[in-house]
Amino acid sequence: MGMKDDEVELFLRSPHSSNRLSRKWYFLVGVIVGLITSFCAFVGVYLVFFHQVSGQFQGCSGQDHNSVIKTPPIAVRTSQCDISKGSDRSDCWPEYRDATQSTCEARGCCWNTDVEQGAPYCYYPGYFNRSYMLMYSQKTSTGVIGHLARTTNSPYPNDSMQLLLEISAETYDRLRIKIYDTTTSRYEVPIETQKEESGGGSDTDFDIKLARNPFGIIIRRLSTGQILFDSTGVSPLIFADQYLQIGTALTTSNVYGFGEHRSGFKLDTNWKKMVFWNRDQPPEPNLNLYGAHPFYLNMDEQHNAHGVFLLNSNAMEVDFQPFNGTGAVTYRALGGILDFYIFIGPTPDMVVQQYTNLVGRPFLPPFWSLGFHMCKYGYNNAAELKKVIARNRAAKMPYDVQWNDIDYMTAHLDWTYDNTTYPDLPDIVADLHKNNQRYVIIVDPGISVTQQPGTYPPYDEGIEDDIFIKADNGSNLIGKVWPGMTVFPDFFHPNSSEWWFRQAKAYYDQVPYDGLWVDMNEPSNFVTGSITGCTSNSLDNPPFVPPTIDGSSLMASTVCPSARQSISTHYNLHNMYGLSEMKVTSSVLKKLLNKRSFVLSRSTFPSAGVYGTHWLGDNLSSWDDLYYSIPGILNFQMFGIPFVGVDICGFREDTTAELCTRWMQVGAFYPFMRNHNSGKMDQDPASFDSRTQDIMRSVLETRYRLLPFLYTLLYRSHANWGPCGPPIVLPESHERYPEAGAEAVDRQFLWGSALLISPVLEQGAVTVKAYIPGDVWYDYYNRSRVSTVGQYVQLDAPIDKINLHIRGGSVIPTKPAAVTTNQMRGEMFALLVALDNNGTASGEVFWDDGDSIDTVENNLYSLVSFSVHSNTLSNKVLASNYKKGAEMSLSEVTVMGVSASPDSVTVNGKGAAFEYDKKSKVLIISGLAVDLLQGLKIKW
Ligand code: NOJ
Repeated sequence: MGMKDDEVELFLRSPHSSNRLSRKWYFLVGVIVGLITSFCAFVGVYLVFFHQVSGQFQGCSGQDHNSVIKTPPIAVRTSQCDISKGSDRSDCWPEYRDATQSTCEARGCCWNTDVEQGAPYCYYPGYFNRSYMLMYSQKTSTGVIGHLARTTNSPYPNDSMQLLLEISAETYDRLRIKIYDTTTSRYEVPIETQKEESGGGSDTDFDIKLARNPFGIIIRRLSTGQILFDSTGVSPLIFADQYLQIGTALTTSNVYGFGEHRSGFKLDTNWKKMVFWNRDQPPEPNLNLYGAHPFYLNMDEQHNAHGVFLLNSNAMEVDFQPFNGTGAVTYRALGGILDFYIFIGPTPDMVVQQYTNLVGRPFLPPFWSLGFHMCKYGYNNAAELKKVIARNRAAKMPYDVQWNDIDYMTAHLDWTYDNTTYPDLPDIVADLHKNNQRYVIIVDPGISVTQQPGTYPPYDEGIEDDIFIKADNGSNLIGKVWPGMTVFPDFFHPNSSEWWFRQAKAYYDQVPYDGLWVDMNEPSNFVTGSITGCTSNSLDNPPFVPPTIDGSSLMASTVCPSARQSISTHYNLHNMYGLSEMKVTSSVLKKLLNKRSFVLSRSTFPSAGVYGTHWLGDNLSSWDDLYYSIPGILNFQMFGIPFVGVDICGFREDTTAELCTRWMQVGAFYPFMRNHNSGKMDQDPASFDSRTQDIMRSVLETRYRLLPFLYTLLYRSHANWGPCGPPIVLPESHERYPEAGAEAVDRQFLWGSALLISPVLEQGAVTVKAYIPGDVWYDYYNRSRVSTVGQYVQLDAPIDKINLHIRGGSVIPTKPAAVTTNQMRGEMFALLVALDNNGTASGEVFWDDGDSIDTVENNLYSLVSFSVHSNTLSNKVLASNYKKGAEMSLSEVTVMGVSASPDSVTVNGKGAAFEYDKKSKVLIISGLAVDLLQGLKIKW
């Protein structure tokens, strides 16, 4: 049985612009072309430059090498099987089970085992005999439309025999390639993409070519000739009901992205598969994890970057092979349509900016959430929780947010707290608030079904509102999670928002939390599919399943794919479950608090960054996991979820003082900083000896000082206006340092492009091998210029030090550290100015009240830019709608790289006190109290 596409009509395409042909028209053309197809077939790869085909009907032409055969097996000519290089073979048996020569040949494919490891034995013939032909194409004002048809069946059931192709430069920097079936309605991903369709116009740098038979697409960067997307040689296009396949060659093997997964930052393209089927799975290499992000970024040899995004939420695998020296990737999706977006870049941050322009810009987190968060699965009672809070306050740790995991609940029931173990929870929360601290709680999607009727509103009201996911037979699907037997809310259901709001409010009235942690939302299920299993239909048992951790099962550890949600099947929506919960939860919180929301979600999908943030799940207290946190954080910058973090000191098993110290040092530079664990041992800073506490306090203070800079970067990623792109944490490769293999550096990272973080990631190490890019850099601590750049250097890194460097040319805003963000907000700003070789620098600061909703959109903020040249620092007030006396004033400026002691320093024309250090060449101008929202000139 095929997918029930009639359930999803609400989410069919938005109306096309007038220059496009209507759907009915396409259908008609399809039928006519289909008829013509049955009389003739095209053969030979025939590239058609679309400018040349405008308005022409590409009818029955071309050589007929290949007769039309309607059913397998297909005769394959031996010569077409003569592909000795495994890297060039296209896998004809991607199924998880082994092929044999006879099953392979019955598929019309070639069999040869004499090949390098990893390469397929069963592969498509050189000429992709079982794919589509381009029957017709026509230029449009922004691209091309085409009609594709196939005359033989693919190896998978229910082929779409006719397809429509639409390629369109929706904006000058974004090209969309959409391939879909006009004869049946198919599910399309219901995320709110930004439908800018201004058209590429003459600014576009894309160039399109189409291959006729077998059909293929080649997209080039016009200005350099670099091919960005080339589906012609990698894998035959297949568009069957539950199997969509297309491949593209890569420009180089410098490929990044595709998530969620665990690996180094630069992807391994040597016969690696990645599976996207969201799963409650601690992060380990080669496994499908919590989220799905079918987006990659590829650098070419000229250091230009482009991005490719497949907007498809079905189960999917991407399959890398070392094709043609540069690599290739084949996508295999189990439903939906092929809806690609290509982003032109050319810088990596521009690629991410263009991507987030489409899927939505990251939310601006409340300022308090940039502070330090603490959590543990297993405080177990109020006394323990209070002890942890008290000792960290006493130790004067900068510490803003306290969390509770599921052990605060009664019997793990959402929206309850345990009156015996946490009787005074409301008082604890009141005390946190009194001390300018915040409180975040966990809620899980599974709602218990075993409570007495009339005693548990989340279930009773959910039944009334009929918002739970249904099994294939129409009854509520029952699974098992922490509270025992549960149902699962359908967060796409129109009534789910109100229902969730009522539960959130009723609980808030007792325990006024400040943010929500939505966990287990893949959704996780402790039984397979449901307590009664799943069906035997093709949604639960598709003809092809990628190699998920469970050996190709879509129902393991989650709900049955055949389950029904209000807008489609779970088969289609599974990868968006977390996203749908984030979206509803974020709007519930805004409504409830009348403040900016803070939502942390374990499961994510493209556009999740609009609603909340993410942490990388149940890591291990190990040095390896410490390292992997960096590529993990870098990946989510690309996925438009920049405010991301990792369980600092490790979640599973006990940490050590050394590991936790090093981890707090790295974690101080995660955008979202939370220490969370489930081990027996406590790992909050104040649980360690006083020396360890001093080190942790010191790095927390460094973070807090730099929070105005972090907040400004988050503002940029949210607003996207101006030169800085959305990623706030950058890898060195993306900073375009071509030297010394920067493309693979993932043991260091940058905040914006100004602050380089080079942590120790190895046990016992007291030095760190760090790559300092070829530029001007200053040591953060002694402010002096680094002499060796453009190469790896060995830096001292005793246990109390994380190496930090500031790039020449930057101006970084800071404020004095305090034990909470509330306390530091009122202090004046200071600036760190690092001069480049020309004695220039620039930077900016964004500031607002820190938690009102939409301050950027409502213009309720201040934004000041700084520039330095000719020994003068001046400001430019770009927005001044948040005025708060001292809070918007400047107290101190530190200038690094001043070659000689100035005779005098003036601030707005008046003499000012200064200190100059000859050795480090640092000038400090302090004791100021000047308004940043007025014109500023500081001369030396
Ligand atoms: C799984 C989460 O990943 C983890 O962080 C949490 O502590 C447990 N669920 C218990 O709620």
